[in-house]
Order: sequence, then structure tokens, then C-alpha cells
Amino acid sequence: MASSQTELLAEKLIPTIDFGLLVNGTPDQRSGMVQILAKACEDWGFFMLLNHGIPNRLSDEMLEAFTVLFGMSYDEKVSYMGGHVLDPIRIGTGFNSKTDLDMCWKHYVKIFVHPEFHSVTKPLNFRDISKDYSECTRAIGLELLKAIWEGLGMEESHINEALKLSSCFQNLTGNLYPPYQNPDIKFGFVPHSDHGLLTLLYQNGVDGLQIKHQNRWVSVKPLPNSIMVNTCDHLEIVTNGKYKAVLHRVLLNTEVARMSVATTIGPSLDAIVEPIPDLVNEDFPAVFRGMKYRDYLEQQQSNSLVEKDCTNLNG
Ligand code: SIN
Ligand code: FE2
Repeated sequence: MASSQTELLAEKLIPTIDFGLLVNGTPDQRSGMVQILAKACEDWGFFMLLNHGIPNRLSDEMLEAFTVLFGMSYDEKVSYMGGHVLDPIRIGTGFNSKTDLDMCWKHYVKIFVHPEFHSVTKPLNFRDISKDYSECTRAIGLELLKAIWEGLGMEESHINEALKLSSCFQNLTGNLYPPYQNPDIKFGFVPHSDHGLLTLLYQNGVDGLQIKHQNRWVSVKPLPNSIMVNTCDHLEIVTNGKYKAVLHRVLLNTEVARMSVATTIGPSLDAIVEPIPDLVNEDFPAVFRGMKYRDYLEQQQSNSLVEKDCTNLNG
């Protein structure tokens, strides 16, 4: 009963953003959508993107290419295993392959796709598909960010320069959560927030994702053909806490495998990310100190901290 109530809440309330209206609408339609986007970022840190223009065929080919990759032999994958957080290709299990092997029941492949494009060599079609998919999602992510700056009343060129978005960081992650029945392990992915600015997520139709909203976990049931988008740590830092990085987790399915493809767009790894001056004043003093995105990744993401405090001025 409790869980069906949560799901009902999710279906009814999760904000939707019509990307078509944002980029091709009349000026009034765009500014209306910019306001809805601003509210979605502030109230939820999460929204479903409709009419995004990514061909379904491409998203499904991307999922399929990850499926083939996950299915390859240990020998074919071992050279990518156990790497450092800044290695451009990593294959592993769990949230942190060094310390949390048994906390999450998942396999992942993480690949850096921008500013330098990397790819595994097998399956043979992986490179072309992942290049197309990354370019498509990056263009959408950058358009969304442009609309987010607009909603905040920010000068786009200033913020793009501060975050060095022309060489924005982008990674592409395939997640596989095999079905599992074990009362001791309930998560495919423990509660966490993502580094970066925005994450775009496509899934294989098997539910399990939950987001934290007003202190309760809400199950996400994506509308057909939608892409789910969540706000990340560096959007929280840049906006001085106005837009929070949303906490999310994945529950295990006991019967069928869940798969997802997540891609995160962040500042340049060399950008020092700090609250934008326009959002800092006497009433809202800076709550984060500036830190290079690359250092944040090394210090924060290379361990299993759930509380992220390395940029917290009071931490
Ligand atoms: C993620 O949090 O990066 C992936 C979550 C999911 O599989 O839905
Ligand atoms: Fe995540």
C-alpha cells in the first residue's frame, strides 16, 4: 500500500519539460518553459524531458551496445577494471570498486566522452553509437543549462566562461542491475548525488529509480520516450545551494534486470567551481568554497562518502 501510494505521487507530480517548446517555441512559450524549468530545479532537482529529439533507435542501440559489452568475457574487460576515478574508461561493480563491493548489486562501465572522446574497442559498433549518443545528449544538456542560466537571470556568456563549458566534461555510464533475491542487499545503487551539473538518464523500462523529495523516497515511472534529468553537485555549488543536487537510489528488482544509460555534463575539469557572485550577498553568504572540478572528483568521488563536505565552508 505504502509503495503504491509513493508511485502514484511520482506519476502525478514529477515535473515535465517540453524540450521542443524550449528550443523551437515562440518567445512566450520559451519563457513559460524556462520558468517551469526553474521551478522544477528548485522544488525537485528532477524532471522528465519530453520531445527531446533523441531518436529512440539511437537510445536503444546504446543500451544494446552496453548489453553486449557487459556480456563479454572477463579477459576482454579486465584491462579496464580497478582503475582510478580519473581513468577515462572504467569497468566495475558497486559504488566504489575498492571499498564497497558488496553494498550495491550493479555492474557499470564509465567512459569519458568529452572534451576528449574515448571508447572501448569492442563491440565494434560501440564507438559510433556512443559518439552519436554523447553528441546528441551533450547538445541537449547544454541547451538545458542555457535555459537554467536564463531562469536565474544570469548572463549566459559569463557563466559559460566561468565554467569553461566549451570544454565541458561529459561521461557516459552504462549500469546493469541483475535481478537478485537476497534480503540483505536491497540496493542496486545506494543513495547518492551525482557530481557535475546535469545527468540525463535513459532506462530499459524496468523501474527501480527513486528520488528523495521532501524527505520521502518517490518512485520514478518515466513517461514513454522521456529522458530523466537530475540536478547535480556542481549546479548546487554554482547556485550557492538554490538548486540542490537531488539524492537518488536504485532498488533491486528480484525478477528482471534493470539497465540504464546515464550521461553527466559538468564544467571543464579545469574550471574552479564556486557560487556565482550574483547569488551571493549578505542574506545568502557563500556556502561552498571554490574547488577545481578535477580535484573534487579525486577527493570526493574516489571514496565512498555519502555526505559530500569537501567544498563545504562549514565542514
Ligand atoms: C545513476 O544514479 O547514475 C543511475 C541510476 C539508475 O540506474 O537509474
Ligand atoms: Fe546517480
